Amino acid sequence: MLPTHSFLQLPAYQELQNHFEQLKEQHLRDLFAQNPHRFTDFSLRFEDILVDFSKNRITAETLQLLRQLAGQAGLYEAIEKMFSGDPINVTENRSVLHVALRNRSNTPVLVDGNDVMPDVNAVLDKMEAFSHRISSGDWKGYTGKPITQLVNIGIGGSDLGPVMVTEALKPYAVQKNGKPQLQVYFVSNVDGVHIYETLQKLDPETTLFMIASKTFTTQETMANAHSARDWFLSHASDESAVAKHFVAISTNKTEVEKFGIDPQNMFGFWDWVGGRYSLWSAIGLSIACYIGFDHFAELLEGGHAMDLHFKNTPIEENIPVTLALLGIWYNNFFGAESHAILPYDQYMHRFAAYFQQGDMESNGKSVDRNGEPTAYQTGPVIWGEPGTNGQHAFYQLIHQGTKLIPCDFIAPAISQRPLGEHHNMLLSNFFAQTEALMNGKSGEEVVGELVKAGKKEEEVALLMPFKVFSGNRPTNSILVKKITPRTLGSLIAMYEHKIFTQGIIWNIFSFDQWGVELGKQLANRILPELADNRPVSSHDSSTNGLINSYKEWRQL
Ligand code: F6P
Repeated sequence: MLPTHSFLQLPAYQELQNHFEQLKEQHLRDLFAQNPHRFTDFSLRFEDILVDFSKNRITAETLQLLRQLAGQAGLYEAIEKMFSGDPINVTENRSVLHVALRNRSNTPVLVDGNDVMPDVNAVLDKMEAFSHRISSGDWKGYTGKPITQLVNIGIGGSDLGPVMVTEALKPYAVQKNGKPQLQVYFVSNVDGVHIYETLQKLDPETTLFMIASKTFTTQETMANAHSARDWFLSHASDESAVAKHFVAISTNKTEVEKFGIDPQNMFGFWDWVGGRYSLWSAIGLSIACYIGFDHFAELLEGGHAMDLHFKNTPIEENIPVTLALLGIWYNNFFGAESHAILPYDQYMHRFAAYFQQGDMESNGKSVDRNGEPTAYQTGPVIWGEPGTNGQHAFYQLIHQGTKLIPCDFIAPAISQRPLGEHHNMLLSNFFAQTEALMNGKSGEEVVGELVKAGKKEEEVALLMPFKVFSGNRPTNSILVKKITPRTLGSLIAMYEHKIFTQGIIWNIFSFDQWGVELGKQLANRILPELADNRPVSSHDSSTNGLINSYKEWRQL
C-alpha cells in the first residue's frame, strides 16, 4: 500500500506558500542577472539529454523546499514500492510494473511472490521472432505474398504509444529498396471514416491486422476489428485465411479466441501494465515490426536507463523528480492550469498527444488516496504541437496572454534529415522562444525600436503598450543530442516518472481511470435507443432533444 498524507498539511507546503509570496514578483531577468551560474546551477544531464530548467521562476531555496515536499510525501518509499511490485494501483488491486517490461538488467521483479521476468522475456522473444518473420518475408499472406502493410487497430494506450513512436522513429524503419519495408496504419476512432479511409489504401493479400486491446472488449476497437475482418473476408472468402492476417495483442485470451484469432497468434501482457504505459509491452509489436526488434530493444534500454536514474539518483540530480516539482510549483502556487509540450522535431508530432493521455488520464483526479475530495489542484491540462508550427498558432497567448503556461521545449541537436540551413533555422527559433519568454521586452526597449524605425511620437505612444512583452514566463529546455530509439525511450520514461512523482505528492492514485467509465456506460445505454425512429423521452430535455433531432435527420 502507498502511504497517504494531507498535501496541504505537509510542513514544506506551508513554507512554500510563504516563499511564493516573496518570490512571485521577482523577474527571471533579475534572477539571471543576480546569478551568472544559473545555467550550471539549474541544469542536469542524463546521457545525451540536457535538461535546462534555469528559465523557471525558482531559486535554490525554492528547489530545496520542493524537495522537502517530495520527501515529506514519501516519494522515495513510493518509488521503492512501485519497482518492487507492490499493488500500488489500489482501486484496481494491481501492481504497476511497466518498468519490468523494460527491465533489461533482468533482475527478478516479484508479483505475489512470482518473478514476472521469465514471462516478460518470453513475450519479447515471441515478438522478436514474429518481427523477423515479417521482415524476412517468411510470414506469408493467404496468396503466398509477404506482408507489406500493417494495421494496428486499438485506441487510447493501445494506439497512441505505437503511433507516437513509429512516427518519432520513422528514420529507423526497416528499409527495403531505400524505403520503409512496411507501411503502418493506425485505426482508432469508432467513426467509420477512420477504418474506411484506411481500407482504401490496403491490399488484403499483403496486409496484417494487429488487434490491440488490453481488455479485448473496448467498443471502438472491437467494432473496427470486425469491420476489418468483414472487409478481409469479402476478398479472401475462406475463414482459414484469417489466421494469416490477424494477430491479437491482449490480456484476454477468452475474448481473443471468441473473435476467432488463434491463441498461437496472440501476444500477451498482464493486468499490471496500464494501458497508457503499455507501449513497452506486446502493444509495441507494431513498433518492433516497423523499426525492427533491435531498435525496439534499444527503446526499452533507454527506458530502463531512465528507470535506474529515477530510482537511484539523489533528489538534487533526479530529472523526472525535478520536472515534477517544477510542475507542482506552477500548478499549486502560481495557479497555472495547463502545461505545454513543444517538440521542435516534426517526427515527434504526436508526442504531446501521447502525454495528454499519459498525464491527464493518470493525474486527472479530484479524490485523494484517503477517498476525500482534494482541496487543491491536481493534474494540469497537457497540450502542444511541434515548433515552429505552434509559433504561428498559439504562442501569441503564451507570450502576451493572461494565462501562465509553463512549457517544455524539446529539440534534437542533430537532425534526422539535414537539409541546408533548415535545422539551424529550427533551433534558432527554439532558443529564441525560450529567451523571449524569459526576458520579454520592456516599454523602454519598445520605444527605442519605434523611434529608431522613424515613428512619430504619437504613433510611438499609441503602439507601445501592445508591443510590450512582460516576459517572466517559465520554460524547460530539453536538448537531446539526437532522437534515437534509446533517447526516445529515456524521454518517455522521464515523463512517466514525472507523472508518477506528481501523483504521489498530490496523494492521488495515478494508475486507475474511472473517469472514462461513465461516458462508456451511457453510450452503451443509448446505442439500442438509436436502432429505430421512435422518439425517446427517458433522458433530460437536452439529451432527448438531441437524440430525437438526430433520429429525424438521419436516413434510416
Ligand atoms: O480510455 C480508457 C482506456 O481504458 C485506456 O486507459 C486504455 O488505454 C484504452 O481505454 C483502451 O483500452 P483497451 O486496450 O483495453 O482496448
